[in-house]
Amino acid sequence: MICNYLAFEGIDGSGKSSLIRSLSEILTSQNIDNKIVREPGGTKVGEGIRELLLSHEYDVDALTEALLFCSQRSQLVTEIIKPEINKGTKILSDRSAYSSVAYQGVGRGLGYETIYQLNDIAVNSYWPEKVVLLDIDPTISLSRQRVADRIGSDKVDFFKKVREGYLRLAEEFENNFLIINAEEDLSDNLQKICMWLKVENSK
Ligand code: TYD
Repeated sequence: MICNYLAFEGIDGSGKSSLIRSLSEILTSQNIDNKIVREPGGTKVGEGIRELLLSHEYDVDALTEALLFCSQRSQLVTEIIKPEINKGTKILSDRSAYSSVAYQGVGRGLGYETIYQLNDIAVNSYWPEKVVLLDIDPTISLSRQRVADRIGSDKVDFFKKVREGYLRLAEEFENNFLIINAEEDLSDNLQKICMWLKVENSK
């Protein structure tokens, strides 16, 4: 695999989780150490912050939201991601700092560049090396969702902006992003991802 830190990104309901699990199984079957982490969360502190961010119990202001995402991320990078990569483990991350640029920066309107810079501080410039972006029309992805959390239950117009944010990131960092059509067949998409990452896929 051509990188140590890979993130999966996309709007709610785009199907990241199934693809991550499948890729992890392929790597494991080839004795390639790998670990799935999720954001928000992935550490004890981060799981606590996750509850504050996603529960319908709390009203969270946009900037507070952006800062809470940064806090859980800073902890995750320091406590898990860097040490695991140093041990030779491949990190497969369900979301990353790029989610914040798309959701808080563009979706909430806090500013693409501002939220990029804020996150650059939070992760000490330790961004994922490669990103698989699952692109989908929000009207379709939202209808796929089972139970929506506080952020995932926003209106379709919010997710249209988030999608624009992602596409802008993919354009800016085109060498590091693979855009996948999330409406297509899962095993075809898995094959495309494996080819891009130079991972053998015998399934
Ligand atoms: P999660 O349960 O991971 O949902 P999904 O299965 O859609 O990935 O919840 C993450 C929610 O938090 C999702 O609505 C996206 C949002 N989010 C942000 O707004 N900013 C961020 O930086 C991250 C990591 C997530």
